Amino acid sequence: MGGEQKLTGPNLADGVPLSAIEDGKMLVGHAYGEPVLVARRGDKFFAVGATCTHYSGPLGEGLLVGDTVRCPWHHACFDLRSGAPLRAPALNPIPCFDVGVDGGVLRVGKRRPEPKPPAGGADAPARIVIVGAGAAANAAAEMLRREGYRGELTMIGADSALPVDRPNLSKDYLAGNAPEEWLPLRSSEFYAEHRIALKLGVRVVSIDTARKRIVLEDGHDESYDKLLLATGADPVKLDFRGADLPHVHYLRTLENSRAIVAAAKTARRAVVIGSSFIGLEVAASLRTRKVDVDVVGPDAVPLAKVMGPELGAFIRKVHEEHGVRFHLGTRPKSIDAQSVTLENGERVPADLVVIGVGVRPAVSLAERAGLATDRGVVVDEYLETSAPGVFAAGDIARWPDPHSGERIRVEHWVVAERLGQTAARNMLGRREQFAAVPFFWTAQYDVGINYAGHAEKWDRIEIDGSFDERNAAVRFIGGGKTLALATIYRDRESLEFERDAEARDAR
Ligand SMILES: Cc1cc2nc3c(=O)[nH]c(=O)nc-3n(C[C@H](O)[C@H](O)[C@H](O)COP(=O)(O)OP(=O)(O)OC[C@H]3O[C@@H](n4cnc5c(N)ncnc54)[C@H](O)[C@@H]3O)c2cc1C
Ligand code: FES
Repeated sequence: MGGEQKLTGPNLADGVPLSAIEDGKMLVGHAYGEPVLVARRGDKFFAVGATCTHYSGPLGEGLLVGDTVRCPWHHACFDLRSGAPLRAPALNPIPCFDVGVDGGVLRVGKRRPEPKPPAGGADAPARIVIVGAGAAANAAAEMLRREGYRGELTMIGADSALPVDRPNLSKDYLAGNAPEEWLPLRSSEFYAEHRIALKLGVRVVSIDTARKRIVLEDGHDESYDKLLLATGADPVKLDFRGADLPHVHYLRTLENSRAIVAAAKTARRAVVIGSSFIGLEVAASLRTRKVDVDVVGPDAVPLAKVMGPELGAFIRKVHEEHGVRFHLGTRPKSIDAQSVTLENGERVPADLVVIGVGVRPAVSLAERAGLATDRGVVVDEYLETSAPGVFAAGDIARWPDPHSGERIRVEHWVVAERLGQTAARNMLGRREQFAAVPFFWTAQYDVGINYAGHAEKWDRIEIDGSFDERNAAVRFIGGGKTLALATIYRDRESLEFERDAEARDAR
């Protein structure tokens, strides 16, 4: 997480010469004790808070696109005219200020009140139910209220915890660098204030799409006019001798992460099974806690299938520099109280085991309801399923992606939230095509990688810069175009790729 930004640059309330702000550029300064950026688009000037409301990214290092500013860290997008958070992962607006221009001097004036949500349309559904209480569900619920939806809104989640910042569960929280108070996306008071009825710790067990009713495991049933399915994904469970021992963990929920944190307090040697993103983030966090770590994975190079062999080899090297030992090209055969035995006969000592071998979309509810599924819940470009009025978003949704021309399903935080936001608007009848460029990030030790686009396969990879210097871009090229771009601390380049891909593939 980022911290407070220091005040830098000129005091914009005192005024700066117009010539200091070039057309299409931003200038960061401060006003009334907070960081503020002014942006110029031709004759138009905007003044907004300079700190992203997600993890405090420096918006002045981001990108102006039309009347928006995009955050360099995880690509949140804010409206320069109102400060509204147009695209996740930021959920709160940035402050917006009056701007005065007089005698060739620009002055930042008073902070404007936050705009009120628009009046809800008369034809809005009376009752919306959201199944799930994770990234997509929460973003959808918030967007419904932000769009002025005034009807009944219920969010039902199987976990008993409030919706949490799931990516943090394998990173700062697990590493001991973030307190648990940082994890909930919102407080209970927030949901009450926004009239979002939260039902937690209860599973939805069936949907009757003809009668527009859902049934909960406690026997209650609820009616809906529009329904959003956002049931996420479940970790793939392994089934071999010892895989169910108490010191063997999976990681999806806050409860899972708490259990690993508790175990790491006394554990001396951990084996991480799976060289997936989550597996490797867990390895890095456990090393921060000074636990010895071995990683076991079937692939010759970790993450090569997603990031390519060069970047995968670099990530392995970084882990090795932090003392992690890899056992690749093999799988675990059994686990006992002291060790993990591998298929190649090796015995790796372990008093803590974390399995991170991927997830499966949680589609059983949708399947039982008779919705069309294909390794995910099939949705159209408006995120509506095969049942009219039933939408799907997040890890379960397989949508027609205008960038790759394929139906894709991804497991990324920002995408889940954006799918939720678009589904919310479409439940209100907006008919907005989902056309976001997929984006995810991973953080391991001092290496942060941003990945924009989607490339399940590619013809070639082009690398620019140096991984060792933490300054590089990897282009995944297929069919003559760059399908995806992975960057290490080249945030602008990642934003520019996103902007260009949007323009290139717009219908
Ligand atoms: C440890 C970890 C770290 C991650 N790090 C990153 C990262 O760095 N970057 C990134 O891009 N992505 C990351 N991800 C992936 C990201 O968190 C997911 O893509 C995202 O959470 C998906 O959102 P979702 O809403 O689809 O599902 P979830 O957030 O999983 O929410 C699903 C919800 O549905 C509920 N549910 C399921 N079935 C039912 C039912 N029948 N009835 C009621 N409720 C139900 C669940 O309890 C849960 O509340 C990470 C994931 C994990 C687990
Ligand atoms: S800090 Fe701005 S998007 Fe994450």
